[in-house]
Amino acid sequence: MQVQTGSVLAGSASDKWIGCLTYQSRAVTRPSESDLERLVAEARDRNRRLGVTGMLLYDNGRYLQTLEGPPDGLAEVWSSIRRDERHCDIEVLTEHMVSGRLFSDWDLLLYSREDDPRRTTRASDLAPHALAHYVPGIAQLALEGDDARISARLASIADQGWTADDIIAHLIEPVARALGDAWLADKCCEFDLTIGLSMLQLAGHAVRSHACTTSLRRSRYSILLATAPGEPHMLSTAMLADQFTDAGWRVEMAFPTSKEALANQIAAQGHDAVDIALSDALPRQRALAQLRETVEASRKAGAGNLVVVSVGGRLFAEATASAATVGADHARRCVSGTSVRLAQLIRQGRALK
Ligand SMILES: Cc1cc2nc3c(=O)[nH]c(=O)nc-3n(C[C@H](O)[C@H](O)[C@H](O)COP(=O)(O)O)c2cc1C
Repeated sequence: MQVQTGSVLAGSASDKWIGCLTYQSRAVTRPSESDLERLVAEARDRNRRLGVTGMLLYDNGRYLQTLEGPPDGLAEVWSSIRRDERHCDIEVLTEHMVSGRLFSDWDLLLYSREDDPRRTTRASDLAPHALAHYVPGIAQLALEGDDARISARLASIADQGWTADDIIAHLIEPVARALGDAWLADKCCEFDLTIGLSMLQLAGHAVRSHACTTSLRRSRYSILLATAPGEPHMLSTAMLADQFTDAGWRVEMAFPTSKEALANQIAAQGHDAVDIALSDALPRQRALAQLRETVEASRKAGAGNLVVVSVGGRLFAEATASAATVGADHARRCVSGTSVRLAQLIRQGRALK
């Protein structure tokens, strides 16, 4: 995720950028728990309508709020908040553009604390989550600005099988609140808080990408990337080899001279998918009948294992032929995105078995 500085309320050149604003203020009169809940309930309705998400910390008469959303929506909410007479001494701590949200699931997450034993906080009502013991350590790393160790720690937690949603809800968001607490208790300065929150945004983004790759790795799909029998052009087969390898698949390649040779390799290696490629340069119209026979022989040879037969080449890129023309499950229009598409087809195919 990238972070840009500048006014978040002035609009952005690109739709993918959202504004992120953090401010602190002081409550004019101390709100009761029901006051806070009413305030947040109303705010959530409006935030949802305007695509604004964020969190509000209330601690002993002080507010700290982070809001994120499209510049127009953010400007509307911000102009109301600034006019609100329930708080004063409003001070903007950070204002920047980011390419992803930290509080994507929260129209407005509330965390409140008042030093009165009769009052309870929402956080203390909840049983601690299994990831809770990581929170202090990661908060400390965020305050030290150690993004490399935060990333390594989150990656190892993702490798234990926690989903990106678990990590964001039960680790990154609680760490954000812990940073807010540290700042409210004067244990860190505004600058540390700001840097820490930015690091969490980056970490949240990295966790999402890491979880994607990890889930593919864990599934360990396998594919045989083959040229059609006798086809000397192998451009897309070579490009697919890089793509599938990067996506964590087990990849074998074949350049068979006959459909029987390809069938033997499929039978021996037990792949989930096979891709059979005609030339990317020349339209091999006359090779279609033979390709149809090759697809059929491959399917027979793959018997119980082979879930998806994919084909590619100039004929398919230009839609002169389709998967149905040769009895395949999938025809590539282009190389890009093939590993994602075939993973989907394998999952669907297995679900139907
Ligand atoms: C600390 C604090 C945080 C607030 N956060 C939000 C918010 O996130 N979204 C929102 O719509 N209103 C929020 N409000 C309420 C607004 O200030 C305002 O009262 C409400 O949006 C109605 O706005 P209007 O009077 O301009 O219609 C907050 C108020 C306070 C005191």
